[in-house]
Amino acid sequence: MSERSPYLASRLQGFGTTIFAEMSALADRTGAINLGQGFPDVDGPDVVKDAAIAAIRGGQNQYPPGSGIPELRHAIAEHQERFYGLEYDAETEVLVTTGATEAVAASLLALCEPGDEVVTFEPYYDSYAGCTAMAGAHRRVVTLRPPDYGFDPTQLAAATTARTRLVLLNSPHNPTGKVFSRDELACIAEHCVEHDLIAVTDEVYEHLVFDGEHLPLATFPGMRDRTVTISSGGKTFSFTGWKVGWICASAPLIDAVRTAKQFLTYVSGAPFQQGIAVGLGLDDAYFDAFTTDMRAKRDLLVAGLSDVGFDVFAPAGTYFVTTDIRALGEHDGMAFCRALPGRCGVVAVPSVVFYDDVEQGGPLVRFAFCKRLEVLEEAVARLKGLGS
Ligand SMILES: Cc1ncc(COP(=O)(O)O)c(C=O)c1O
Repeated sequence: MSERSPYLASRLQGFGTTIFAEMSALADRTGAINLGQGFPDVDGPDVVKDAAIAAIRGGQNQYPPGSGIPELRHAIAEHQERFYGLEYDAETEVLVTTGATEAVAASLLALCEPGDEVVTFEPYYDSYAGCTAMAGAHRRVVTLRPPDYGFDPTQLAAATTARTRLVLLNSPHNPTGKVFSRDELACIAEHCVEHDLIAVTDEVYEHLVFDGEHLPLATFPGMRDRTVTISSGGKTFSFTGWKVGWICASAPLIDAVRTAKQFLTYVSGAPFQQGIAVGLGLDDAYFDAFTTDMRAKRDLLVAGLSDVGFDVFAPAGTYFVTTDIRALGEHDGMAFCRALPGRCGVVAVPSVVFYDDVEQGGPLVRFAFCKRLEVLEEAVARLKGLGS
């Protein structure tokens, strides 16, 4: 949260520059290893790149259709069927967006009346708070508590009121790396059905599950037609700068979200859409190797941070690991992260930015492990110098 801005509309007061921008700028300035922002340091598959390059050379450089190019919409529908047995009509039930970020923004803007309430789980990805505020809605949070980051169903019940419009869920979950279990998802699904709530699910880490499995909320009884399922190609294909995202939902929900989306970006990234369409059609070997590679990185960083003396919550998914710095005799994650580049040449993110409850998030620090193994080894070696 930042100081009051003289120009900023009241609904956005308190939202300063995102912590990722601040910390990545700090990494650039100091030459520190950036384990703050979640972007890989190697590009994704050449075939995906080549498809985008061919599309640029082939003249696909003007506005694509409002819902996305047909090749990508069909590839998304086939992906949902192949991995989860979920059937969507590529013409009416799939919408391509400018990353998952726009998908979340358009969903909240389209579905919420001013004064409505959005229930989400804390810690939460920072755009959820900003987009809820832009929609004129209010967020109500249910806290995920370590060590397993489970939630108390009575807190979910208490957070739900007559004004609740939707539940906004992220699994696999950033920043904790939690993968919601079948029982937890069944509980959330039953809650949505009982209270007639829409679910908006952010599944951008769907192919980064190391332990357990990813279960889309839309697969649970009564959820298919009340769930707006969001994902994107950024994480799955290591092209975070392309910002190709999508939504799968029933036709009436897609129509509503498209109405908001058309006035945000209208469309974007025509040639990149061709690339991601090819990516979604890659064989299982690609998806398996991607997960295996990232699992090895997780294992290295989790072991390394434990050796350094952090209290580490091993993530079941995503490419983030949360640590508690009290084990190092520290308390203030924000101060710790601001000082870390100077102390040892590593950048991390203070998890407090993901919390309303600053007591909960204060001593927690998030590290990203989507970096080459040698970079992670070097980061761990530098962090070992912390005490000296
Ligand atoms: C949970 C979550 N949702 C959405 C996004 C943004 O996705 P995109 O780059 O596709 O907009 C991120 C990126 O870090 C994320 O962690």
